[in-house]
Amino acid sequence: MPELPDPLARTALWTASMRAREHDRPDRLFCDPLARVLAGDEGLAIMRGFEGDVQDGVEDPALAVRTRFFDDALARIVKDGNIRQIVLVAAGMDTRALRMRWPGGTTMYELDRPGLLNLKDQLISAQAAEPACRRILVGADLTADWTAPLLDAGLDPGTSTAWLAEGLLYFLSASQRDTLLHELTGLSDQGSWLMADYVGQASIDSPAMCAWRESMASRGHAWRSGCDDPGSWLETFGWHATVTGYGEPGADYGRWAGAEVAPGVAGTRGRYLVIASRGG
Ligand SMILES: C[S@@+](CC[C@H](N)C(=O)[O-])C[C@H]1O[C@@H](n2cnc3c(N)ncnc32)[C@H](O)[C@@H]1O
Repeated sequence: MPELPDPLARTALWTASMRAREHDRPDRLFCDPLARVLAGDEGLAIMRGFEGDVQDGVEDPALAVRTRFFDDALARIVKDGNIRQIVLVAAGMDTRALRMRWPGGTTMYELDRPGLLNLKDQLISAQAAEPACRRILVGADLTADWTAPLLDAGLDPGTSTAWLAEGLLYFLSASQRDTLLHELTGLSDQGSWLMADYVGQASIDSPAMCAWRESMASRGHAWRSGCDDPGSWLETFGWHATVTGYGEPGADYGRWAGAEVAPGVAGTRGRYLVIASRGG
C-alpha cells in the first residue's frame, strides 16, 4: 500500500482497522467487508500501537458504537425524509456507499484529502466492489476552499443534504471548526441534517486524558478542540441538535456498560454523538 504522508489521513487507516475487527466479531454491530483491505497493515499497526501504549490493551468500543449509531441515523433520515444527497465530510475509508442500501437517486459525496481518496479508489477498484448509490469522490482540504470543489462535483445547495462529520471535529482548531460549520451551513437548505461525533473541552483538558492527549500529539494527530455545550454551539449556526452521550439509550448497543478506554479511565470521557436538523 502506498505511504500516506499526512498523519491525519493515516487516522483513517486506524478507524478502518477498528471496523475490520468489529466486522470479524460474531456479534458485530455492522458489516464492513472491505475494511480490512482499506486499513492495510499500517492501520492494524496504528491500532495495536495506540491500544498497547495508551490503553494497556483495552479495546475502546466507541468506534463500533458510533459507526452503528450513524448507520441507523442515516438510514432513518433517508427513509423518513426526502434526502437524496449525503456528504461524508472527512470520509476516510468509510464504505457506507457500498455496504448500506440506498434509495434510487441517492448521491453520496466523499470529501477528504486527495491522496487518501486516490488510495481508497485504487483499493476498492481492485476488489471490484460496486457502490449502492451514485458515489462521487471530492479531494479537498477542509481547512481551505472545499465548497467550490463540492459544488463543482454536483452538490445542489437548493436541496436538503445529510452531512456526516465523523472522526473529524477534534482534529480541527475551534476556529477551523467554526469556519467549516459556517461554510457547511451555507450549503444546507431547510430540512438538512448534520451528524457528528465530538468531545467535551473539559474532558480533553482533564488530567485523566493526559496520556491520551500526549500520545495523539506525538503521532501527529493532536486533538485540538472540544465543546462542552454542543447544543448551544450548533444553535448559533441555526441547527437544532440532539446530543447523545456514549452509553446512553440509543448509543449503547450492549457494548457500553462499564466501558473503559484504559484501565481505570471511564469510556465516556465527555464524548458524544450529535444529530442536528435545520428548519424544514
Ligand atoms: C479519524 S479519520 C475519520 C475518517 C472516517 N470519517 C471514519 O470515521 O473512519 C479523520 C479523517 O479526517 C481527514 N481530515 C482531517 N483533516 C482534514 C482536512 N483538513 N482536509 C481533509 N480531510 C481531513 C483525514 O484525512 C481522515 O480521513
